[in-house]
Amino acid sequence: MTAKRLDGIKGCVFDAYGTLFDFNSAVAHCRDVLGDRADALSRIWREKQLQYTWLRSLMGRHEDFWQVTGDALDYAMKSLAIDDKSLRDRLMSLYQTLAAFPDAVPMLQRLKAGGLKTAILSNGTPDMLLAAVKATGIDRLLDAVLSIEEAGVYKPHPSVYQIALDSLALAAPEVAFVSSNAWDAHGASAFGMKVIWCNRYGQGREMLPGAPDVELTTLADIPAILGLPR
Ligand code: LAC
Repeated sequence: MTAKRLDGIKGCVFDAYGTLFDFNSAVAHCRDVLGDRADALSRIWREKQLQYTWLRSLMGRHEDFWQVTGDALDYAMKSLAIDDKSLRDRLMSLYQTLAAFPDAVPMLQRLKAGGLKTAILSNGTPDMLLAAVKATGIDRLLDAVLSIEEAGVYKPHPSVYQIALDSLALAAPEVAFVSSNAWDAHGASAFGMKVIWCNRYGQGREMLPGAPDVELTTLADIPAILGLPR
């Protein structure tokens, strides 16, 4: 049973990829070339991208998210026997200007009208995040765009979630962290933030420390959860 309302929240911190920005939109633009391999490519690309963040963090061999995203794309293309340099360049370029989910902008507008602080906290590099927020117009609705590059280690390392507290000058229980990634939701909860899990992808509950306080399927429900008008 998840809460219907979170009280005492002063700031909302969002995961980027999969939560505000639709990573499938890059591959969707290349269906002309990819045909029925498009969905598999997007799925393997994302899975490898995340695995490489966790593995590099464990290995103590950090490379930034642009490099990791390219490495993961190379793995995914190879696994599907796709050898096409111009397609690779096109997909990487599209990753810089992913579409925002339709529920993202209206929700952020309501949070700002309600006086909440808002931020992105993402694995993305500062350049990738800047390109994404500018392309979607979300930049005007955020107080901060925060990258894990400040910590030099990927989510869900606790030092990453601390970046948001330091930037917004809030205590962990005053922050609602919003992610579509169950593992990221558990990471922020274990760190001490309140957590809204926007379960867009119908994922199962993780057996990990922490637990989301609220589970939703659309960002549109967040203002009501925080006691703001919809
Ligand atoms: C991010 C990935 C985890 O934006 O989606 O940090």
